[in-house]
Amino acid sequence: MMDAHTLYEEAREVAARLAREAGQIVRYYAGRVTVREKGYNELVTQADEEVQRFLIEQIRRHFPEHAILAEENLSDMQDGREGASFRWIIDPIDGTTNFTHGVPPYGISIALQHEGRTVVGVVYDVPHDELFTAVRGGGLYVNGVRARVSQTETLREALITTGFPYREVVHLEEYLEALGRVIRATRGVRRPGAASVDLAWVACGRFDGFFETGLSPWDVAAGILLVEEGGGRVTDFHGRPDPIFARQMLATNGRIHEALCELVAPLHHVYA
Ligand code: IPD
Ligand code: CA
Ligand code: CA
Repeated sequence: MMDAHTLYEEAREVAARLAREAGQIVRYYAGRVTVREKGYNELVTQADEEVQRFLIEQIRRHFPEHAILAEENLSDMQDGREGASFRWIIDPIDGTTNFTHGVPPYGISIALQHEGRTVVGVVYDVPHDELFTAVRGGGLYVNGVRARVSQTETLREALITTGFPYREVVHLEEYLEALGRVIRATRGVRRPGAASVDLAWVACGRFDGFFETGLSPWDVAAGILLVEEGGGRVTDFHGRPDPIFARQMLATNGRIHEALCELVAPLHHVYA
């Protein structure tokens, strides 16, 4: 039987190849999709569904025993392998609103968990043709080149990324207050539009920090590992690690983590 680390390396290679192949499907559909609203401001296209089908079929071909958690609810793809010790978590297109409007970035997010710990993370930013990969303990790579978080020491010099609430906008006032504190304290704030890419860009040092509420595991599973393997830190708004299911995301280069946490901490009851 293959040892765990060899399996993780093989899984990373498979995930990286599938992400690039899925990127071809996304490119084919760019500018020619029919958009459906599956909930308020919650978009889905044929591209999301086709990419998810492709990824699930391919993952099952390589790793038939593994469980899969994926965003889109495709009735013919129910999993049924709940007890498995390996589970893939995939978002076929992260940033679908950007994708349907032709605005970069948007990407494919693929993670593998072993006994509940993420061990492989891959995010492919399709319009920028950038592939971010990590195996736990093996560092972060961007298109095959080793990368790290920024060395920014203070909020004054920090560029922060976030996601605005747009589906369940029940906590908008509190979010805007936190955003105001962050805008005042930092060099600036951006809202690119794909949480997995926000995390990838913190991981490789473009942004110094990221916060958002209301995210799902497929948005963040791969990105959390990228940030950690880039040398950064990821917690919920209480400072607790491993916030994959927390629906509160604070990811930084580590150096500004506590300072940024203080500004967003009043949001800690949101989705708690
Ligand atoms: C969304 C994107 C967006 C974030 C949302 C996510 P989707 O994912 O990551 O940046 O603000 O919360 O749901 O729906 O495009 O896969
Ligand atoms: Ca998503
Ligand atoms: Ca999605």
